[in-house]
Amino acid sequence: MKKQPIGVFDSGLGGLTILKALRRKLPHEDLIYFGDTANVPYGSKSKAAVTKFSLAIARFLQAQGVKLIVVACNTASAQALPELRRQMAVPVMGVIEPGAQKAVASTQNGRIAVLGTEGTVRSQAYPKAILKRSPKARVVQQACPLFVPLAEESWGKKPAAELIAREYLKPVQKSGADTVILGCTHYPLLKPVISRVLGKGITLVDSADTLAEAAQTFLAQYHQLETSGKGRVQLYASDDPARFKHLAEKLLTEKLGAVRLKKLDL
Ligand code: DGL
Repeated sequence: MKKQPIGVFDSGLGGLTILKALRRKLPHEDLIYFGDTANVPYGSKSKAAVTKFSLAIARFLQAQGVKLIVVACNTASAQALPELRRQMAVPVMGVIEPGAQKAVASTQNGRIAVLGTEGTVRSQAYPKAILKRSPKARVVQQACPLFVPLAEESWGKKPAAELIAREYLKPVQKSGADTVILGCTHYPLLKPVISRVLGKGITLVDSADTLAEAAQTFLAQYHQLETSGKGRVQLYASDDPARFKHLAEKLLTEKLGAVRLKKLDL
């Protein structure tokens, strides 16, 4: 079991921020990443559609013999996690719980803002996870759908990104939150502009490191942690793998191996 890979998926490129953290924390593990480029964005789709895509990807990863599936997408974690856990034979971890845990640990004034896709905001998954840990916390949510294409196009440094961030972040600033969850795996790619607009004294939280730690603890607990050799990464995309590879290399600022095309059996 130890030698089996970990499967990771997202609607597109955003989950690469999670893949990066997993590689740092678990350098000996083989990782299989699936970017659902044929169906991105998930954020504006229905729960039924997101669940259908997530299940198809998870079945594919499971068929590759993974020992753990990491849902590196907040929208899919918020909407499809219970169904994934019900239908998969391997364990499935999402990004909502680690993000909520980190935010609760970091806030000083008990006010937490959540930035996410429309689907993540609608699901109320973050407020539920936060209030379970800290019943007195005050949570505001803001959907930021335009952040996904900005991140995918690497437009974080353009004036348009700052204008859009100013608009989206107004209610967050008004709320007095001292901690802001980047509740979409694409958003860490826009961290500099979000942090500039929010100003000093605000902690930005993303789930990547907390999730990687949780994955390590989980695998160690079940004696499935690979502790030797250099882990390999295999990448799949459901559409236009060449474009995915080009954008992913730009985002990660590193050369990646081949990206294979895998159409989903929906
Ligand atoms: N990166 C995904 C998330 O974390 C969703 C982006 C999208 O497909 O809308 O929610």
